[in-house]
Amino acid sequence: MKKIVFITSCFFVISLVSVCLALEGNIERGKKLFSDPKLAESTKNLACIACHTEKDTFKSVPEGKELNYLINICIAEHMEGVGLLHESQEMKDLKSYIISRKK
Ligand code: HEC
Repeated sequence: MKKIVFITSCFFVISLVSVCLALEGNIERGKKLFSDPKLAESTKNLACIACHTEKDTFKSVPEGKELNYLINICIAEHMEGVGLLHESQEMKDLKSYIISRKK
């Protein structure tokens, strides 16, 4: 009986940890999205990296919700795409990548 309880709790903890990891933004995934011209149903065949080169440091960008708006402005105005939902995984990944480039 103890064994079953132990195995069940292990399973529970592992699932909880994986859900938390999935919800976090991921820098590597964000980097891939940054050079994806199909991101956000963009019709202009332009990825973020076409305009924001390696030299672009993003030094003064905000890290909170304001960054979501800045990203969506670029998607809408410069890429003619559909803005990403603030809670979407793609938005979280892109934000993590941009914030990682502030340093
Ligand atoms: C066609 C060129 C172009 C593309 C493509 C583009 N941007 Fe931009 N981006 C700009 C310009 C120009 C600015 C300066 C503000 C403005 O005029 O909109 C800017 C500003 C920004 C800023 C604010 C920078 C700051 O220092 O305040 C962020 C963040 C940003 N872009 C992220 C992105 C992301 C993420 C993508 C891809 C999803 C993207 N951009 C795609 C041209 C582009």
